[in-house]
Amino acid sequence: VALSASRRDVLNTSPQLHWTEDGATRSARWQSERGAPPPQRVRIVDDRLGADEAYGLACQGDALLWRGDFQNARQMLVALAKRADRRRPRPAAAKTTADPISAAAFHLERQSRAQRARTLGMLLVELDADYGCALRRAPDLRVACGEALGAGQGPLVLSLRELLGIIGAHEWRVRGIDVPAAGLRIHPHYGVFAPIRHEYVGLVAQAPLPAALTTYPVAFDIGTGTGVLAAVLARRGVAQVLATDQDPRALRCARDNLERLGLAQQVTVQQADLFPAGKAALIVCNPPWLPARASSPLERAVYDPDSAMLLGFLRGLGAHLVPGGEGWLILSDLAEHLGLRTRDALLGAVEAAGLRVIERIDARPVHPRAADAGDSLHAARMAEVTSLWRLAGAG
Ligand SMILES: C[S@@+](CC[C@H](N)C(=O)[O-])C[C@H]1O[C@@H](n2cnc3c(N)ncnc32)[C@H](O)[C@@H]1O
Repeated sequence: VALSASRRDVLNTSPQLHWTEDGATRSARWQSERGAPPPQRVRIVDDRLGADEAYGLACQGDALLWRGDFQNARQMLVALAKRADRRRPRPAAAKTTADPISAAAFHLERQSRAQRARTLGMLLVELDADYGCALRRAPDLRVACGEALGAGQGPLVLSLRELLGIIGAHEWRVRGIDVPAAGLRIHPHYGVFAPIRHEYVGLVAQAPLPAALTTYPVAFDIGTGTGVLAAVLARRGVAQVLATDQDPRALRCARDNLERLGLAQQVTVQQADLFPAGKAALIVCNPPWLPARASSPLERAVYDPDSAMLLGFLRGLGAHLVPGGEGWLILSDLAEHLGLRTRDALLGAVEAAGLRVIERIDARPVHPRAADAGDSLHAARMAEVTSLWRLAGAG
């Protein structure tokens, strides 16, 4: 059978998972969104396996390739999650945001979640070339997997946990999510930062637009994700919006949303590292809020390693603003409450970039985690404030 060039590329560059089944050696492409290496030991298991035994094997690093009933595999994942949660070390909750255990609690919490993800990621399923699944009672996965992974990536093996994430993302993409702060419905794609929290969108919907937009009606949205902030600016009447992102999935997602909202004429989406060429009267940026290493592509929208995007935005802003123009930086102070960044460091970076703060507009988050007292980062989340910093060139 002749293979297309792109298909050969997939086979040549992807890690392979190897296992033995019914006396035969088998292998398939290993799919892992977070770039986990293929497990070294694979056992073939089915509905007869007990949850305690499965959990013990998964903890030891034995991958469990499921043959049997898909819905039973889902039940097994729930049972594994219960066991993992019972044994998960919970860092002591910081009582106040000034508590020095905040940063340590944050890192321990991340480690503990990564360990949980590794264990739960040991339950595997196999998909064929068209993303069909031979398990009994398996749903039709073709559309969801095609959207998340692209065409022609199978046959493959992936964790059931990742597959359920792909199915959930498809449902979101079809239904969309309401963004009441802007009166919009946004359809997030797999792997793209979704505007589940509304307060930051509300800030962009309500901050006073700079007067310079009347003479130079161009705005940039740096790191557009789903395109939500570009859409808000366009709806507010900005004649021309240029939205950038580096991630091809975000670019596709933003184009899809702007098209659905009838704003594709007004907003151009382009791939760029931070700024497009040229200048604007308003430049909006909502970088990932926590300066920490991202351990998977999905985490890149939450964690900004070494504050690269934040600092890159500040350093480049002045050169891209027309006289009288403004940069709007959207940033939560969660990193400050967690001891990962200080307010002085942020203000120092603004000054070092030759910028000045015109105004800071604050909003309190309304998200479920802020109310979860069992969360070890509860105190920090309760104190969190999201701000829109109106910045101008110092000159
Ligand atoms: C926190 S998300 C914000 C998404 C969207 N603006 C919003 O507010 O919902 C940050 C986005 O910046 C993008 N990004 C990260 N580094 C970038 C860079 N150097 N240039 C352009 N976009 C970048 C990410 O892919 C992600 O979509």
